Amino acid sequence: MKILVIGGGGREHALVWKLRQSPRVTALYCAPGNAGIAQDATCVPLKISDHSALIAFAETEKIDLTVVGPDDALAAGLVDAFQARGLRIFGPTQAAARLESSKVFAKAFMERHGIPTARSRSFEDSAEAHRYCQQLNYPLVIKADGLALGKGVIIAQSPWSAAMAIYEIMERRKFGEAGRRVVVEEFLEGEECSIHALVDGRSYLLFPGAQDHKRAYDQDQGPNTGGMGTFSPPDRLLTPELEKQIRHEVLDRFIAGLKADGIDYRGMLFPGLMITTDGPKVLEFNCRFGDPETQVLLTRLEGDLLPLLEATLSGQLEATQARWKPQPAVCVVMASGGYPGDYATGKTIEGLDPVPDGVTVFHAGTRRSDGAVQTAGGRVLGVTALGEDLPAARALAYEGVDRIHFEGAQFRRDIAAKGLLP
Ligand code: AMP
Ligand code: GLY
Repeated sequence: MKILVIGGGGREHALVWKLRQSPRVTALYCAPGNAGIAQDATCVPLKISDHSALIAFAETEKIDLTVVGPDDALAAGLVDAFQARGLRIFGPTQAAARLESSKVFAKAFMERHGIPTARSRSFEDSAEAHRYCQQLNYPLVIKADGLALGKGVIIAQSPWSAAMAIYEIMERRKFGEAGRRVVVEEFLEGEECSIHALVDGRSYLLFPGAQDHKRAYDQDQGPNTGGMGTFSPPDRLLTPELEKQIRHEVLDRFIAGLKADGIDYRGMLFPGLMITTDGPKVLEFNCRFGDPETQVLLTRLEGDLLPLLEATLSGQLEATQARWKPQPAVCVVMASGGYPGDYATGKTIEGLDPVPDGVTVFHAGTRRSDGAVQTAGGRVLGVTALGEDLPAARALAYEGVDRIHFEGAQFRRDIAAKGLLP
C-alpha cells in the first residue's frame, strides 16, 4: 500500500515512523515533512493548504491512503476535497471537524448531549460579552471561537483582563475571523488528561490516556504552549473507575450525539479533559491526533497502526482491538529558545546520533541544510523513551535529551514528574 501523511511536525513523524513498520506499506510519502521524517519517508515539498497540488500528487502516485495530521487542514476541508475525487483519506470532514474548529459549536454539542463541560455562554456581540463579564466571579476563561494556533484561550484574573481579552479577540481581531465570536466559561480547577479514541461514526476504540505539559516552564509556570512533553499511561490520575466514567459520560454520549445530529465522524477524537473534584469535564474536542501525545501513544502501540486506521474508515472498530506495551513512555520536547514567543531558527543540532537504546527522537521543526540538521520551528524535537517503569522511562528520555545540543535549546526538566506523585 502507498501512504501519504500530511503535515510536518512531531506528531506526523511519529505517524510516519509507526506506518513505516507496517509490513503492508510499500511506499510512504509525507508532505511537507521535516529532516527526521525524511529518514523514514519520501518528503514532498507541497503546502498543506494547496489542496489541488496534494490531490494531483495522490492521483499521480496512486496513493491508497492519505492520513491528515493538523487541525487546520481538516478545518479547511482537505478531507472533503480528497473524498470528492474518490481518494481514501483518514480524518473527519470539514463539517465534523467543526467540533474542534468552532468552540461555540462544540459547546452547543456538549450541552445538547449531556457531555460534562465547563458552564459557558457564547457571544457574537462584544458589548454583550463585556457586560456579562462584569457580573462574574474570577478567574474566568475567554476563548476565541475558531482556531488560533493554540493562543485563543485566555485565563482572565480580573474584569480588566477579561475586557482586554474581549477587546483583542473581538474588536481588534487579533486572531482574525476566529474571533468573530467568543465563549466565556467558568474556570475549572484540576489536573488535565488527554484522551484519544478512534471513532468510526458508530463506535469507538479507546487508546490509553496521556498527560501533556502545556506550560512552557517547570512546575507549570509560564505561557501555554502546544505541549512541552507527555507521558503515558497516567495511572495515578486515570484510574479504572475514572476511565469507566469517561467512557460513559464523554465517549458514549459523543457517539449518541453524532447519531442524533446526523454527523458522520470518522477519524481520531482527542478530548482534552480537566479532572475536577466534580468528575471529568471536557475542555475541548480535538479532531486529530495530539502533539506530543501521539509520540508516546504510538511508541506504546504493539503491532500495526494501519488496520486501526482502515477499520475507522470502514466502520469496523467494534470488532477491532489494539494491543499496548505495558511499559510507560515519556516524551520531552526540546524547543527553540523564546518559544512560544519569538525565537530564532537555523541553529545546527548536534548529538542526534547515536541515540541510547529505547529512545526515539521525533523531529518537529527541523530541516536539512548543507548536510547539517538545523532548527526550523518553535518545537524542534520530541525525545521519547520507553522504560520498565515511569522513573526509568523518564531517566532514559532525559539521557537522550542531554546528548543533544543546539543554541538556545529550551525544555522542561520535570516532564512526567507529576506521574510519580503519591
Ligand atoms: P483549550 O484549547 O480549550 O483546550 O484550552 C487550552 C488550555 O487552556 C487547556 O489545555 C487548559 O490548560 C486551559 N483551559 C481551557 N479551558 C479552561 C477552563 N475552563 N478552566 C481552566 N483552564 C482551562
Ligand atoms: N498537545 C495538545 C494538542 O495536540 O492539542
